[in-house]
Amino acid sequence: MSRRPRDRDIIEKIAVPADSAADGGGSTLSRRSFLKGAGAAAAAASLLGVSPAEADVSAPNPPLAGSAERLGPGPAAFNLRINGAARTVAAEPRVTLLGVLRDHLGLTGTKLVCDRGACGACTVHLDGAPVASCMMLAVDARGHEITTIEGLGAPDRMNALQNAFVSNDALQCGFCTPGITMALSAALGANPNPSPEEIKRAIAGNICRCGTYPHVIEAALAAAKAARGRA
Ligand code: FES
Ligand code: FES
Repeated sequence: MSRRPRDRDIIEKIAVPADSAADGGGSTLSRRSFLKGAGAAAAAASLLGVSPAEADVSAPNPPLAGSAERLGPGPAAFNLRINGAARTVAAEPRVTLLGVLRDHLGLTGTKLVCDRGACGACTVHLDGAPVASCMMLAVDARGHEITTIEGLGAPDRMNALQNAFVSNDALQCGFCTPGITMALSAALGANPNPSPEEIKRAIAGNICRCGTYPHVIEAALAAAKAARGRA
């Protein structure tokens, strides 16, 4: 029975010279090397969720061990840029950006609520764009500019948006407030004259259990107006 071209391709790729076969075979493909290669192909196919017959063995391989950066599983030291400053942390690569901010750097303004990207409480800026820090590994934030709520202002020097939250009574328990402030800060940076609908869309991923949304929208409109007045 003739082999399908794909089978022939696979065998040619895993074939080793006869003189390198440990079991002394005289053919191009030793039984041991064939089984080794077939096992590796099956394992790779299983990891990719395809059957071995479907696996494209001509695709480039991932980098070989030793040729790519390898971190972990224990703590690894790496650098992050947070609120304009370089910070070195030692954390396991599995730790989220939120975990590093709160547990390693003491930046507890960023809140942990759902821990699964559903509530927006952990929103920070990555290169100016809002992201859920509970859904991002800290090591993946290397090379990016991270801004947290502490980077916007402090109780004794709040920025215009934070001041507007206070003067418009836009918070109750405050657990959602840092995340909503970060989402709005990014939105106002991109659009200095938003409509109420645009503000609602900007905080669509932020849940406030206390229901402060009307006041939050008022605060955002007031902050935008104040910023336009200063421009
Ligand atoms: S804690 Fe990250 S989205 Fe809820
Ligand atoms: S102020 Fe309490 S969750 Fe928003």
